[in-house]
Amino acid sequence: MDSVENKIEQLRDELNRHNYNYYVLSNPTISDFEFDKKLKELAELEALHPDLADPNSPTQRVGSDINKSFNQVAHKYPMLSLANTYTEGEIQDFYNRVKKDLNEDFEIVCELKYDGTSISLTYIDGKLVQAVTRGDGVRGDDITDNVRTIRSIPLMLQGNDYPHEFEIRGEIVMPWKVFDELNKERADQEEQLFANPRNATSGTIKQQDPKIVASRKLDSYLYYMLGDNLPAGGHYENLMKAKEWGFKISDATQKCRTIDEVSAFIKYWDTERKNLPVATDGIVLKVNSLSQQRNLGYTSKFPRWAIAFKFQAEREITQLLSVSYQVGRTGAITPVANLKPVKLSGTTVKRASLYNSDAIEALDLHIGDTVYVEKGGEIIPKITEVDASSRDMFSEKVVFIKNCPQCGTLLVRDEGEAVYYCPNEQNCPPQIKGRIEHFITRKAMNISGGSETVEHLYNANLVRNVGDLYTLKWQDVSRIERWAEKSAKNLTDSIAKSVEVPYDRVLFALGIRYVGETVAKKLAASFPNIDLLMSANLEQLTAVDEIGERIALSVIKYFENEENRNLVEHLRQFGLQFELSSEVLSQRTDKLEGKVFVISGTFDKYSRDEYKAMIEANGGKNSGSISGKTDYVLAGHNMGPAKLEKATKIGITILKEEDFLKMLE
Ligand code: IVH
Repeated sequence: MDSVENKIEQLRDELNRHNYNYYVLSNPTISDFEFDKKLKELAELEALHPDLADPNSPTQRVGSDINKSFNQVAHKYPMLSLANTYTEGEIQDFYNRVKKDLNEDFEIVCELKYDGTSISLTYIDGKLVQAVTRGDGVRGDDITDNVRTIRSIPLMLQGNDYPHEFEIRGEIVMPWKVFDELNKERADQEEQLFANPRNATSGTIKQQDPKIVASRKLDSYLYYMLGDNLPAGGHYENLMKAKEWGFKISDATQKCRTIDEVSAFIKYWDTERKNLPVATDGIVLKVNSLSQQRNLGYTSKFPRWAIAFKFQAEREITQLLSVSYQVGRTGAITPVANLKPVKLSGTTVKRASLYNSDAIEALDLHIGDTVYVEKGGEIIPKITEVDASSRDMFSEKVVFIKNCPQCGTLLVRDEGEAVYYCPNEQNCPPQIKGRIEHFITRKAMNISGGSETVEHLYNANLVRNVGDLYTLKWQDVSRIERWAEKSAKNLTDSIAKSVEVPYDRVLFALGIRYVGETVAKKLAASFPNIDLLMSANLEQLTAVDEIGERIALSVIKYFENEENRNLVEHLRQFGLQFELSSEVLSQRTDKLEGKVFVISGTFDKYSRDEYKAMIEANGGKNSGSISGKTDYVLAGHNMGPAKLEKATKIGITILKEEDFLKMLE
């Protein structure tokens, strides 16, 4: 026991010293990886010995949803949440309580409750200076750079009657359309899907790379203003002012004078919300007058002047007719429930996702079962419950298939994975077609055509792997039914042109499991030609930023397969790019090796993106926000004052663009 105590003490001392080096001196002496390893070791020892717990242990610093890599800032006003209610009776109780407490007339503002990530924005002199997540309500992550990429959030306000300084809070959301596209992309990559737009939003907003955030097309709705000199004495009137200044305020927001008007609002939006482009999970009621809000005050957790009413997730009863199995591009098998059609949230549901064999087992599904289907925050309905009491005693239990439904091969399941795969990569038709479809997509080789084109070529026996595309003759294609000479030529022309596609996209196009666009870019930058990548071992691969063991093992496995190595050789002979272009290579140096840069403001000589590329090409790293890890801030015009102050405080070197260019000379 004594030795465990000593070990814990020693780890705490060591980690505290590293924390100090990192956060106070901005001079870390061990790698993040080493730090995290020690922290994990300490956390495990503490979990085994709860009697040795200490609130001042370094393990207690990593709290709530706060991401270590963002700067944490204290909220000027705590970010509270709302009490939830589920029935109209509870809404009536809220109304009566407010009426009794105020003992005077009051108005209620009804709003939609948007389902995303809450954010607090600070504006000084009409400029966005800071955007902070809720965090634990007291402190949150400074994600200003990421938030700047959200188009509906004004960086500079319109008009001139805004207060010198104020905060405005709201929700960052991912529209359904963007969410569906993102998940489709992830499904193509056989990456884990986001369960709902809320998770996708919070996953996006915590990305270290603002470029990824920008590509995800987030949106925002603002619903709460705070500050000393707000324009009006009413919440609603302030929101209308905010709208004039350029903020996105929901058009649904409505001022009500009676409980009947409130009920009508709830009733209307309970169904109408299904036609909105973004997810909502309820309604928020707020007392309008700010002075009445002050009189009502707060409990320890919630304001007494506001309440949330949560919509019921819609569910329906139907019957399970059968289970079918789809085979993905990498051979992953997805079970799908075929249901007796039933109306749910305005659409007819015929199928539900069953995720994987564990999910089927957990539900103890039998064919013919009476099942409950639900559409929660997600668009694909799921079976949430089975009514086993009404089950026919002779009904057949659903047993996950053992063989591939398309080619009959015995399925395999990797240890620790929930998914079954068909290992017959080279001969299983949906896998062959899926790989070719992926190869030709716009973000990969950008060859014209889609799944239908692939289907035609496959059925005409013209392609069996992506290499066959490069020997296709337009004359052969034009012999396929419904293919005119012109479209056949277009296809072969675009195939010929695809040999110019750069190396990182060719890597992506190969369709290696878990190697999406971003990972492909990272791999290409670290292994400038495919021979280096093919011979890389686990250690070399995981040394690359953001490449974990799962991805590394998948890359190794891919190149261990002789057919894949032959394919690469074959494609190389057709002239595809398997190394970084000489132009890119000639610009690469290690002058900035290991240095972390934060870029802020606007520049004269080059764009921000060009500067970012220069940093990476010279061995440096870009980061979204200033922290103890930052080495340099590349400051342009209009660098945010909060940022400047922070950088100066930590003692980070601030470079003007001329200084930076000199460093590279
Ligand atoms: S008002 C003190 N209004 O719901 C008032 N919140 O459970 C604070 N939300 O954390 C919040 N739409 O993330 C408010 N129209 C709305 C909202 C809303 C969504 C979220 C927000 C908050 C949570 C409260």
